[in-house]
Amino acid sequence: MATPSAIIWSNNQLQLLDQRILPVQCEYLHYDDPYIVADAIRAMVVRGAPAIGITAAYGMVLAAQQLIKSSPASTAAWHLALRPAREALANSRPTAVNLFWALERCDRVIEERGNDGKVLQALTDLAIHIHAEDIQLNQRIGDFGASLIPADSIVYTHCNAGALATGGYGTALGVIRSAHRDGKIRGVFAGETRPWLQGARLTSWELMQDGIPVTLAIEGAAAHLMREHKPSWIIVGADRIAANGDAANKIGTYNLAIIAKHHGAKVMFAAPTSTFDALIDGPQIPIEQRPAEEITHSFGKRVAPENMVISNPAFDVTPAQLIDAIVTEHGIIHQPDRIKVLAHLAEGKRNNR
Ligand code: MRU
Repeated sequence: MATPSAIIWSNNQLQLLDQRILPVQCEYLHYDDPYIVADAIRAMVVRGAPAIGITAAYGMVLAAQQLIKSSPASTAAWHLALRPAREALANSRPTAVNLFWALERCDRVIEERGNDGKVLQALTDLAIHIHAEDIQLNQRIGDFGASLIPADSIVYTHCNAGALATGGYGTALGVIRSAHRDGKIRGVFAGETRPWLQGARLTSWELMQDGIPVTLAIEGAAAHLMREHKPSWIIVGADRIAANGDAANKIGTYNLAIIAKHHGAKVMFAAPTSTFDALIDGPQIPIEQRPAEEITHSFGKRVAPENMVISNPAFDVTPAQLIDAIVTEHGIIHQPDRIKVLAHLAEGKRNNR
C-alpha cells in the first residue's frame, strides 16, 4: 500500500493530511484561507521542509483566489494585496528554507503576470508544478543516494523525511526506498523523534506500508544500536543546508552524526537543492523554538513540574566535517565544504537551463 499524499489540490481547494493524528486516524482537512494554512503549518498538520514549501505555494493561490473578485490592476497592487498573506505564511516556521524558496518563486510569478490579469492561473500552475516536480526530484535523489549503500545494509534514520514530508517518495526515505528496491536493505532503524514522534508515527508507518523491514527505537538507544548492529549509513533529510555544507535537520540529528563517527557509520543528508541557502553558513541558520507544552505535556497530560524552564529547539545543525555525503537531485557532494557546495549548486543551475 502506498503512503497517502500529504497534500492534495483538487477543485481549486487545498487538502492536508492531518499528520498530528497519524497513524491512528487518516483524515484530510480542507482549506480555502491562506491564514488558516499558515496556522496549519505552524501547528504541524503538515510538516517536513519540501511539504511546507509546497503548502505555502498553494497558500498563495488561496490568497490570490480571495482577491480575484476585486482583481488588482497592476503588479504593484498584486504585491501589496498579497503581502499580508505572504507574511503570515513566511512567519509560520523559520528553519525550513523551502518555505521562503517557494514564496520567492510566487513573487517572481506576480512580477511577471501582475499586469496581464493572469496571476491566479499562473500561481496555480506554479504550485502544481512545484508539487509534481518534488516527487520527480525525490526519485532522483533516492537513486543517487541508493548508489552509495552497500549490499545487505542496516541503515538508521531520524524524524520523517518521507513521502509525508514531501510531494511524495521522500528524500531520506526516498534513498531507503530506492536501496530497498535494489535489494540492499537488511533493516532500517527509525529513531522515535521526541517530542512529535515523527519517527514512531510517520516513518515506521510509511516503511511498513512499503514492506521495508523497520525497527523503532528511542533516541537514547542510538549509540547502543550502532555498536550492536553496525549500520552502514545514517540517512536523514534537511531543513536548510548552508553554503559551507553545515546542515540543519530535526533536533537530535547532530547527536546521531557524532555517535556515527565513533562507530564508523557514514552520515548522509538527502535534500533537493531548494533546501540550500547559499547566503549563510551553519551558525546563521535560524533555529525554531517550539512551545514549552510540547515537552511539559505528553498526549494532553502534564509530565513536567509547573513553571518549568524549557528549551525546545526543533532543529540542530550538523557541521559539514561530520557529513560524508549530501545527495541532491543533481548528484552527490562527497565530504561537503563551501567550494564543493557552491560548485554543485552552480552546476545544477547550468543543467536546469
Ligand atoms: O518539525 P518537522 O517534522 O517539520 O521536521 C522535519 C524534519 O526535520 C525533516 O527531516 C526535514 O524537514 C526534511 S523532510 C524531507
